[in-house]
Amino acid sequence: GSPPPSLTPALALTVFAASLSSLGFGFNIGVINAPQKVLEGEYNATWARRWGSPPPPQTISLLWSLSVAIFSVGGMGTWAWLKLAWNWAGRALLATNGLAVVGGALMGGAKLGPTYTLIIIGRFIVGAYSGLVSVLVPLYVGEVAPLRLRGALGTLHQLGIVLGILGAQVLGLRALLGTPAAWPALFGAGLLPAALQLLLLPLCPESPRFLLARGQRGRARRGECGAFGLAGVGLLELCRSRRYRQPLIVTLGLQLAQQLSGINAIFYYSTSIFEGAGLRDPAVGTIGTGVVNVAATVVLVERAGRRLLQLVGLLGMMGCLGGPVWGALALASALAFVGFFAVGPGPLPWFVGAELFPPGPRGAALGLAGLVNWASNTAVAMAFPDALGPFVFLLFGGLLAGFALFTFLLLPETRGRTFPGGGDPQNPSPPPLGTPLEKDTELQCLATHEEP
Ligand code: GLC
Repeated sequence: GSPPPSLTPALALTVFAASLSSLGFGFNIGVINAPQKVLEGEYNATWARRWGSPPPPQTISLLWSLSVAIFSVGGMGTWAWLKLAWNWAGRALLATNGLAVVGGALMGGAKLGPTYTLIIIGRFIVGAYSGLVSVLVPLYVGEVAPLRLRGALGTLHQLGIVLGILGAQVLGLRALLGTPAAWPALFGAGLLPAALQLLLLPLCPESPRFLLARGQRGRARRGECGAFGLAGVGLLELCRSRRYRQPLIVTLGLQLAQQLSGINAIFYYSTSIFEGAGLRDPAVGTIGTGVVNVAATVVLVERAGRRLLQLVGLLGMMGCLGGPVWGALALASALAFVGFFAVGPGPLPWFVGAELFPPGPRGAALGLAGLVNWASNTAVAMAFPDALGPFVFLLFGGLLAGFALFTFLLLPETRGRTFPGGGDPQNPSPPPLGTPLEKDTELQCLATHEEP
């Protein structure tokens, strides 16, 4: 038989370059957490300069919630563009960097103009960038990665995100850039991964789908698209089709579980949560959540089945919500909560979605999944700060229990399985979900080979 696909330099470069987008996305999630106080002070001063007297405190907290949540609103809006983007995964990724650069520049330069207005617009734009990235990276990596490496490489997206969050948390420390003088550099730093990717991505191979769509079958040698046919399935068709109903429900359920677990209440607001819990050094607690998030993301995927990781993660998170909400114990519960998130509910939704669909409907399915992800992200970002009060834990606990049950009943095991619906493109009836790959049809992706 053919030798097992391995991580060639071309594939490594491609996946690294793609993960820079995930890094930029994560950075923008984490960046507003530590400097909240500093920025609120800045908003206050800007307002006073503009209107002659400082605003009431509610206005500042409203402006702040808006600065946080507008990011995910931007993320939500972009799914509409995805139809244009998804056949072009690699190139579309390249183009998204324009958004990162503009958004980063607006926020980095916000002191020069009406600060909160520029921050809010900038956050919307980097949100749009992150929304596109959240779907394009798994799509592109899923297409260039050979089956054996798919889980590991799929996790690199989430690893990029969590490293980005941690990087922003660390740079946001008062000893580094989280100061009244240096915060513009902190917000501007978000454009660095984008700049690096602009240099690297042009050196990377096109996704097999892109080449096939342009009739360059030879260059896409035995890429998965060759085995499955290329016909795209639109959103309406996807939603109406019985054949895709179950994978669609599972994919959307995974996304809802990821966000409605309440994880981003921590990544957006942990510094003020820890402050409220009486922690002496809330910023250090925040970095703790970032460290645990990174550590737990790397250790587990591909060591156990998807079902097990997802169930343990959700039930563990639920258990942590019962923990005390004061002082060091609050920190311990938050750290464990993040740890359980990172073993399954964090990384899995991004690539299990791609595993459940053949290439035809995959773009539409992942686009819809992205919309659901960002809509629920927005709901948490807006609802968390004060609206829900003490019921917040009960609510998230109930949701987590529901998602655990959902996982137990509906999530198929996809570790080491091929995409469903494979086989002869002339023959419309697909093999059952998750049929193991035949040796000779194993995906031999462009990136795992030398160029012809
Ligand atoms: C996932 C989520 C993102 C969250 C992150 C935390 O990537 O999509 O919203 O902030 O995990 O690690």
